[in-house]
Amino acid sequence: MLIKVKRGWEIPESAATAEAHFLNRRALLGGAAGLAAASLAGGAAAAVPGEGTGATRTADLYPAKRNAAYAIERPLTPESESADYNNFYEYGTNKTVTPASNALKAQPWTIKVDGLVEKPFEIGFEDLARKMALEERLYRHRCVEAWSMTVPWTGFPLAALVALARPTSGAKYIQMQTFLDKAMAPGQRSPFYPWPYTEGLTLAEANNDLAFMVTGVYGKPLLNQFGAPLRLAVPWKYGFKSVKSINRISFTAERPKTFWEGLQASEYGFWANVNPAVSHPRWSQASERVLGTDERIPTRIYNGYGEQVADLYKGLEKERLFA
Ligand code: MTE
Repeated sequence: MLIKVKRGWEIPESAATAEAHFLNRRALLGGAAGLAAASLAGGAAAAVPGEGTGATRTADLYPAKRNAAYAIERPLTPESESADYNNFYEYGTNKTVTPASNALKAQPWTIKVDGLVEKPFEIGFEDLARKMALEERLYRHRCVEAWSMTVPWTGFPLAALVALARPTSGAKYIQMQTFLDKAMAPGQRSPFYPWPYTEGLTLAEANNDLAFMVTGVYGKPLLNQFGAPLRLAVPWKYGFKSVKSINRISFTAERPKTFWEGLQASEYGFWANVNPAVSHPRWSQASERVLGTDERIPTRIYNGYGEQVADLYKGLEKERLFA
């Protein structure tokens, strides 16, 4: 596979070894493609869970009532594990982003809603969180790097935000962006990434019951490293679709170009639905390492959520739905 070498991918070998027991180490270290994998997959975990959160003004909204419809069969991942093993490139390319992410000022925070909507508007995060009926849902979370966890997110259905935005009939997609502030996010000083982090869904996906706007985790407001104060969770897709620290939501007629597509379209597509039968070009997706355990378990199509989402993809069989 031909990939242009981008120096931004080049991380020290020491930072790329955590996944080596299940990624093909030689492939990892064997060239530009390997460097890309190392960057997305890399990073040994340290043991210092973060305390940073800018969303404390909404602390009274937690814990929210758990919605029993979203129960799952696996035990929850301990917070000490999931809060210390994060992908947040704005704060570094390894998993230990917690100390750096304390620089994220998540309060005050404004979210801009624009594009193909009846009337563009801006709303403060606190107003939004108080306007929505918050609930807790237990979701599986499967990273494209083949690790997974089980997380108690708190938030509200993305469909409620779509309804608030009132998209016009021409709107077919929803684009979500992370803030852009090089002073607050040192990672954004790297010119090799197409900042700001951008993700997108079709409007039909955004209106699916499972698509969830996350404001909290483990019964309290989001810690910075999880993407405070507002992030997405679309658990049937690889984790990179779940954009963090969102401050702009745009409705568009065209499919938005996403961060990972911009970097490596051959490996990270728009749909990115979980499928054990479709390998990443450089590693298998057949199984996953369960964070906080020694277990490897088989990966399930749509990460186990096929019943809820498979219908969204009828008639789209010619698309690269699983990459
Ligand atoms: N959002 C932003 N803004 N920046 C990122 O680097 N990483 C993505 C996604 N959202 C990322 C992001 C990836 S690759 C994954 S797997 C998940 O966030 C990780 O979420 P977690 O740290 O809560 O496990």
